[in-house]
Amino acid sequence: MSTSTITVNTQDDRSQDLVINPPSSGLALKGTITVPGDKSISHRALMLGAIAEGETIIEGLLIGEDPRSTAKCFRAMGAKIGQLNTEKVRVKGVGLGNLKEPLDVLNAGNSGTTMRLMLGILASHSGRFFTVTGDSSLRSRPMSRVVKPLVQMGAAIWGRKDNALAPLAVKGKELKPIHYLSPVASAQVKSCVLLAGLMVEGKTTVTEPALSRDHSERMLKAFGAELEINPTTNSVTITGKPTLKGQHIIVPGDISSAAFWLVAAAIVPGSELLITNVGVNPTRIGILEVLAMMEADITQENERMVAGEPVVDLRVKYSKLKACTIGGNLIPRLIDEIPILAVAAACAEGTTIIKDAAELRVKESDRLAVMASELTKMGAKVTERPDGLEITGGQPLKGAEVDSYTDHRIAMSFAIASLIAKDATTIHRAEAASISYPNFVATLEQVMT
Ligand code: S3P
Repeated sequence: MSTSTITVNTQDDRSQDLVINPPSSGLALKGTITVPGDKSISHRALMLGAIAEGETIIEGLLIGEDPRSTAKCFRAMGAKIGQLNTEKVRVKGVGLGNLKEPLDVLNAGNSGTTMRLMLGILASHSGRFFTVTGDSSLRSRPMSRVVKPLVQMGAAIWGRKDNALAPLAVKGKELKPIHYLSPVASAQVKSCVLLAGLMVEGKTTVTEPALSRDHSERMLKAFGAELEINPTTNSVTITGKPTLKGQHIIVPGDISSAAFWLVAAAIVPGSELLITNVGVNPTRIGILEVLAMMEADITQENERMVAGEPVVDLRVKYSKLKACTIGGNLIPRLIDEIPILAVAAACAEGTTIIKDAAELRVKESDRLAVMASELTKMGAKVTERPDGLEITGGQPLKGAEVDSYTDHRIAMSFAIASLIAKDATTIHRAEAASISYPNFVATLEQVMT
């Protein structure tokens, strides 16, 4: 029987090639695994901890590059954030409005959440000056979506391309409350406005076209802010100037990371995985709804509430997947899972249509273009549409050389696709996975043996 191999090769430029060669005799993924802490909740726990009074304790924090960027930025503004670890991170907050002017540029790295949420906090810190930048991917992503509402609130922000791109300069000011009608269903936009509204006298409201993840709302309430939520209109109103008090946060496993294993076990014949401690916030479970439509065999066990967020264990077994259509209000609830769902679609019977997903073009990479080009290299039948993808499943995948385009979710999606490909697949710049999933390759090795 041939054995599978996983090799990581470091290149001269220190990027890494991940080479996956599944056995020709077939491979079944087995075992019980945990996934790292939720990225969205980890950012928010660090940020709210940093601006609250007293101590916040965070258990289960994601130790990925993105939360590291958040921690670094807020340390530079006076918050005392202990060494990042998954057990217990202590954050000593400065109290609302008390962040210090940093002595240097704040660098959000690859993290859109860090930059967009932080801008809301900075813009309302009257009398202080901030400069914010990021890596080359983040410097090309649209910041106008948060600059626009902040400027409506009275913020002073300058940046490249008519204040749309980082590096950005922010002169903190007293802001005024607004009702912002966001043109996009984006939790980052919603959270930016709510965080700016924390420092504003009166009520600030955001209305979005479809409901995006609500971790900010849940956590702001837990820290003591006053929020009114109108689910019929997808509106949230925050009352400014609360006293935020440090909390004990337990971060559940990230369903966006679990998604790779859900699809992996669903497409690799003979597989069965148990993924424990996964957050199943209703605004995040679009992946489970779609995999159910595709007739995947997934069961939820041990349902419980942990620190205000619903948590389950997910058991997934191999099954023959069917194509489906993904669009509309479902998109914000699975926005980060579309790359791995494209892999599932390539293995499903029939043609899967992904639509209303133009937002994917402004993520860490243009995820529609990249999934189309790289899946095609592996032999999949994919058509790129302006707002989505059309994928006809059932073509056998073959090993190929693909690129992550430095996008963590692309790197991991192709690692999973390679498990059912004939011959070896090389994923260039696969180190990007460490943005949200530092132990990804170790877990892959675990479930393949
Ligand atoms: C996030 C919101 C989403 C998501 C991102 C994390 C958050 O972005 O894609 O990975 O933590 O608020 P958008 O708000 O741009 O949709």
